[in-house]
Amino acid sequence: MDAQTQHDVLIERSLDEQARQLFVKDFRSHLASQVVGGVPVAYYQVELPKFVAANGRPPKSKDEIRQFMLTNPYYQFWSGLQRTSQEMMWDSVIDSVERQAPALNARAKTLAAKAKKSTNLGSLRLNPDLEIPRYHTGVDIHIQPGGYHTEFGADDISAGAIYDRGVHIYLMGGMGSENDSLGRISSNWFRLEHPNLKPARILDMGCTTGNSTLPWGRMFPKAELHAIDVAAPVLRYAHARAVSLGIPVHFSQQNAEHTDFEDECFDVIVSHIMLHETSNKALPKVLAESRRLLKPGGIMIHLEIPRPDDVFEKFMFDWEAYNNNEPFSMGCRESDLIGLAREAGFDPEKVTFAQADAGLSSGQRNYSATGFLFPMLKAEKSAPVSQQRLRKAA
Ligand SMILES: C[S@@+](CC[C@H](N)C(=O)[O-])C[C@H]1O[C@@H](n2cnc3c(N)ncnc32)[C@H](O)[C@@H]1O
Repeated sequence: MDAQTQHDVLIERSLDEQARQLFVKDFRSHLASQVVGGVPVAYYQVELPKFVAANGRPPKSKDEIRQFMLTNPYYQFWSGLQRTSQEMMWDSVIDSVERQAPALNARAKTLAAKAKKSTNLGSLRLNPDLEIPRYHTGVDIHIQPGGYHTEFGADDISAGAIYDRGVHIYLMGGMGSENDSLGRISSNWFRLEHPNLKPARILDMGCTTGNSTLPWGRMFPKAELHAIDVAAPVLRYAHARAVSLGIPVHFSQQNAEHTDFEDECFDVIVSHIMLHETSNKALPKVLAESRRLLKPGGIMIHLEIPRPDDVFEKFMFDWEAYNNNEPFSMGCRESDLIGLAREAGFDPEKVTFAQADAGLSSGQRNYSATGFLFPMLKAEKSAPVSQQRLRKAA
């Protein structure tokens, strides 16, 4: 079954294209539910006993595990298929996008023109002079040809169109019909944790197609919702998609390390799986910028990729870094995000991790034995002491 919500810029699929894309989706489901499970078996029943017999101790680190697992035939078998499925995924989507690109670009332009004439359909502000960070230009992240930022013509939205369909296949539909489960998780969590807070201005960093942004708009329809990304094609797509789905969002092309928003202008700043696609140098800057932009009492939530404790799972999650062009994911996963947020100036007592379960089925959880929990780095910007006293008095 294919349950992706239709909107004006989602690619249409011919019967052949649809069959090919659904094949890749099912192939990935098969790998996640039937094939990858053999890797822990190969580790625990074959390779680990050999290692312990030879060394008199279990492996000390994921890198030690990697050294001997790389030559295990079953691991090689799964790893090769997994990589191939990723390449097949983009290939199957790119054919549809290439075929329709002129029509899709024109449709996005029409939707943007409609928004310009309206006061409640959001906006799009692009900056052709923005320097795209090297952590994007240096590598085609997760093997998406051209990454998020490459433009294949004027007014191009191809990267957004490719990502929207690709990510649906990537997680085998596990992100929901609008690929929005992460935004639903973070916004629901925020509302339950802070039932009395009604944010007036919200910023989503690294929004791509706006898939995780829109749930915030639905949760807080009275808030002014902003979303930024460094990449123009995904922003054009996100704007057209949001207009089509009827949620007003102000999109702008900006680097989350240093934006042009004024100090202390947002009540909530969120990001969803953005940090692990920035470099170790960029990470502290994004956190410092988040703090600068938050109003006193405002809240930052950066939802990130899972950070398992188990050494074998750490080795498995590293697969993405070594084989799926996610070179920064390892650095982010290993970085002390809480420490970095404190260094960025957040009150040490106001920085925590919360865990969000993405609700993926066991087949979609892939190789993770302990579930698929997304950590959320949460920090509150302390109000100045004078304001705290006023609040207490009130
Ligand atoms: C994995 S995608 C996130 C997708 C989306 N937020 C979601 O929930 O599915 C990462 C996005 O972050 C953007 N990005 C990475 N570094 C950025 C930065 N420094 N400033 C703004 N956007 C950035 C990328 O262009 C990309 O669109």
